Amino acid sequence: MKHFLSLANLSSKEMHMLINKGIAIKKNPSRFSSKLKGKTLILLFDEPSLRTRISFEAGMLQLGGHAITYHLSESTVGKKESPKDFSQVLSRYVDIIMARLYSSEMLAEIARNSRVPVINGMTSAEHPCQVLSDLMTICEKRGKLKGLKLAYVGDGLNNTTHSLLYGCSKSGVDVSIGCPKQMMPDSKVLAKAKEFAKIHGSKVHVTASASEAVSGSDIIYTDSWMSYHVPHNQEKSRHKILMPYQVNKQLMKHAPKALFMHCLPAKRGAEVTDGVIDSKASIVYDQAENRLHAQKALLLWLMKK
Ligand code: CP
Repeated sequence: MKHFLSLANLSSKEMHMLINKGIAIKKNPSRFSSKLKGKTLILLFDEPSLRTRISFEAGMLQLGGHAITYHLSESTVGKKESPKDFSQVLSRYVDIIMARLYSSEMLAEIARNSRVPVINGMTSAEHPCQVLSDLMTICEKRGKLKGLKLAYVGDGLNNTTHSLLYGCSKSGVDVSIGCPKQMMPDSKVLAKAKEFAKIHGSKVHVTASASEAVSGSDIIYTDSWMSYHVPHNQEKSRHKILMPYQVNKQLMKHAPKALFMHCLPAKRGAEVTDGVIDSKASIVYDQAENRLHAQKALLLWLMKK
């Protein structure tokens, strides 16, 4: 059974195939409009979502299938039954599962016990659907991946950073992380990304200096300083630590030709200023749109269509 839980498990060839397929679907969506006729996707959420939920729901409908959204707050899992029983039962009703869960362990347990493919719709550790779509967006805008430099600045210890480390290192994109020392990426993820980089001819660099990280980059990327699981009472202290990593016009000057990316939702005035997110360099809405196309490619691949 093929699942999509982490970009670390995807080969570079598979990643490029999915990106190219996403681009082909975007160009001619009607060619794929009945590929998943009669199929059902379930979307499990224990955290909020705009992009992930709506792009998967709309994508499945546009492929001729059906999508059910199920919030874990109204479910039995973790309360009256184990993830094992939950998954064994659920996977007899549907053809594919997408889960946005805080816990990677629970996601892995659901995948282990599922009769159908399981997609990671984001955990606290990884966000592979986001980064697959981001690589497709970069390919569209720059015509290639290999040889580019992507700089990520801000909270380095988050799911998007981890998936960027895997996705970039495997596709030959140099990745440079600028983050505070107390918000460095997970050391195991970093070590794995460095191994992938060696194989695929890219570089991985981490620094506490935002200007050093972005210098000469083709893409500057940031994410929320308040990921869904961070308690609200930490907002003030995190903003103080992270303000030197804000993407503003001054920081963009270190990479005058760079595109700006953000997986959204964005807090304007925190991790990015209006002047950058609304500038010509910003491709954040294309990024959000491509969730739809890249995930359609993913659904078709996992369902062997
Ligand atoms: N980027 C992203 O995953 O957005 P949502 O949280 O709205 O799904």
